[in-house]
Amino acid sequence: MRMPLIAGNWKMNTTVSEAVKLVNELRQGLDEIDNVDRVLCPPFISLVAVRELIKGSSIKLGAQNLYFEEKGAYTGEISPLMLIELCEFIIIGHSERRQYFNETDEIINKKVQAALKVGLRPILCIGERLEQNEAGLTAEVVTKQLKSALVGIDDLSKIIIAYEPIWAIGTGRAATGKQANQTISLIRNNVSQLYDKKTARDVRILYGGSVTADNATEFMQQPEIDGALVGGASLKVDQFLSIVKQTSEIRQVK
Ligand code: 13P
Repeated sequence: MRMPLIAGNWKMNTTVSEAVKLVNELRQGLDEIDNVDRVLCPPFISLVAVRELIKGSSIKLGAQNLYFEEKGAYTGEISPLMLIELCEFIIIGHSERRQYFNETDEIINKKVQAALKVGLRPILCIGERLEQNEAGLTAEVVTKQLKSALVGIDDLSKIIIAYEPIWAIGTGRAATGKQANQTISLIRNNVSQLYDKKTARDVRILYGGSVTADNATEFMQQPEIDGALVGGASLKVDQFLSIVKQTSEIRQVK
């Protein structure tokens, strides 16, 4: 059985003091919930402070990006070796990085490889744009993104996949549970073809895009959806706690 996972991607939000406040407000509530992996992904500069605050708690830590070189003259970048001292998870291939920072499939593959090399667990994001969705190209687009990101990777056990349709991110226009389940099922089939049935059965695949306390249950009830990558709602204490709680409750009956 796959353990559900809810990750909060805080994106470029929260100063260090705001991050500390948010974690302090979330910690007890999250610790009272069972059977869900919960991961917070604050901005880089808050990782050290948040790491201290979550010691001894159920919360796991992730970062939002990395560079693929280990060290050197790459002004402003953060390496896998720096991150593995601080956190366990790493978001890679987010559509905002593809769109605003020109990250290509090739760069994303290098980042996945670099993360795995040091033992970081990638949360690999894939998803189609609105016009691709409307042109019926979703399957083609996510299949290509998945294959390219996984070139040269034999072992998927550390990787989590997040299906994030771009038209649903930050728009308030979430996919329906059924739509998300259908594409995630396709992604799982792709994994089965690229690897094998067991790998496909074991890999966790999340949905992301306008997940809130109001629609979380709809997603978590779907058989193929193993959790969520949450943006805006992860910055609101009540919303995030409710999403994790709903996931835990559904898990009991799934
Ligand atoms: P929203 O939940 O704000 O739509 O963002 C989703 C996302 O991009 C998570 O990585």
